Amino acid sequence: MEYRSLGNSPLRVSCIGLGARSLGAPPGDPAQQAGQAAGASVEPDRSAEWERVVHRALDLGINLIDTADVYRRGGSEELLGRVLRGRRRQVILATKGGFRRQNGRTTQDSSPEYLRQAVEASLRRLRTDVIDLYQLHASDPAVPFEATARALEDLVGAGKIRYVGLSNVTPEELAAFPAPVVSIQAPLNPYQRDAEGDLLTEARRRGVGLLAYAPLLAGVLGGPLPPDRPWPPGDERLHVPQEVVADAAILARRLDDVGRRWGLGRVRLLLGWAASRPGVASVLVGASTVGQVEANAAAGQPLPPDLLREVEAVVDAAGVTVQRPVPMRVVEVLPGARSPRVAVVEWGLKFPVPQSVEPGDTILVEIWSGRVLPSLPAPETSGPEA
Ligand SMILES: NC(=O)c1ccc[n+]([C@@H]2O[C@H](COP(=O)([O-])OP(=O)(O)OC[C@H]3O[C@@H](n4cnc5c(N)ncnc54)[C@H](OP(=O)(O)O)[C@@H]3O)[C@@H](O)[C@H]2O)c1
Repeated sequence: MEYRSLGNSPLRVSCIGLGARSLGAPPGDPAQQAGQAAGASVEPDRSAEWERVVHRALDLGINLIDTADVYRRGGSEELLGRVLRGRRRQVILATKGGFRRQNGRTTQDSSPEYLRQAVEASLRRLRTDVIDLYQLHASDPAVPFEATARALEDLVGAGKIRYVGLSNVTPEELAAFPAPVVSIQAPLNPYQRDAEGDLLTEARRRGVGLLAYAPLLAGVLGGPLPPDRPWPPGDERLHVPQEVVADAAILARRLDDVGRRWGLGRVRLLLGWAASRPGVASVLVGASTVGQVEANAAAGQPLPPDLLREVEAVVDAAGVTVQRPVPMRVVEVLPGARSPRVAVVEWGLKFPVPQSVEPGDTILVEIWSGRVLPSLPAPETSGPEA
């Protein structure tokens, strides 16, 4: 496994990290209760496999685990807290906050009061006394950066968190954030490559490492694609636009051809490609089985240069980028911190909007990038990437 510096910080992270977004059962789920109540003796249930995934990741040299308080409604942090007892020191534990869940609704909130509560709650669930990397999940346009940054610096001073990271920010937001930051998170796969532009330029300028997420496009590129493998009802991959899935099927076939000649699988090629992008400190990849985490950890070695060039040619030929515009109803309009007005939409996300937008209006949001689109009322500034 290759280890890299996380930005200018002294942290050395494995170039493949474990994303824990789909690990752990939400509170109230029988699998979690069984796992908690009976330790390892309850079989079969998915908790046991998830626990093995985490242990195997550590055994294979993965030392960065990324979660968030909202993943599995706290269940991901709970699972990690349980599994990492006795192994906590082997892990750089990264979590995120900034989405408040209240009365069954989730809303963006980066206020100092909320972040202080969120960090305490994450510490409790993770059963640790310090979080190595605490990341703002997405920037909240209704809260001044100065307030958020001061709160995070105070949490560092209090020994609750060691380093601060940002996630889903624009290059301008990264440049403007007034506190030391060691990492940013952004998607990076053949269909989501925005991070390779101005964001990485700004990250390099600030000495910030990129944690590249969703390298398999949330699993779309992991195995057979539809129609060979139809995704079941409720699977988030069903939301990926049809033209992207169709292009991904072609890309997957091309990568499989390259992989066959080199004796390597498609996942190995895609993770190796993502890890090779300049500025990437670690590639955060999810895994739901031990077999997957083993395959993913194998990408901790760089691809031979000739092979990398072949993979780059295939990836560069990807024909589309992910876009999914969704109309969203505005439930509230607030004063903005970096723009005059901010709309809170039904999904709890917040976006800068022009003066003309009122509660009850519908705005069109491109949800993969989090930008408000210039139809229906046009925005004055670009929104945060969520
Ligand atoms: N900051 C943010 O807003 C943000 C957003 C998204 C993700 N992330 C981070 O990035 C991590 C990874 O993102 P992600 O889970 O959305 O997407 P991903 O890593 O692209 O896809 C993960 C999925 O791919 C499949 N997979 C993984 N390894 C495989 C293998 N070796 N062979 C075949 N299939 C494999 C699994 O799905 P199946 O088993 O179901 O096929 C797995 O759940 C997250 O866990 C999270 O830590 C951050």
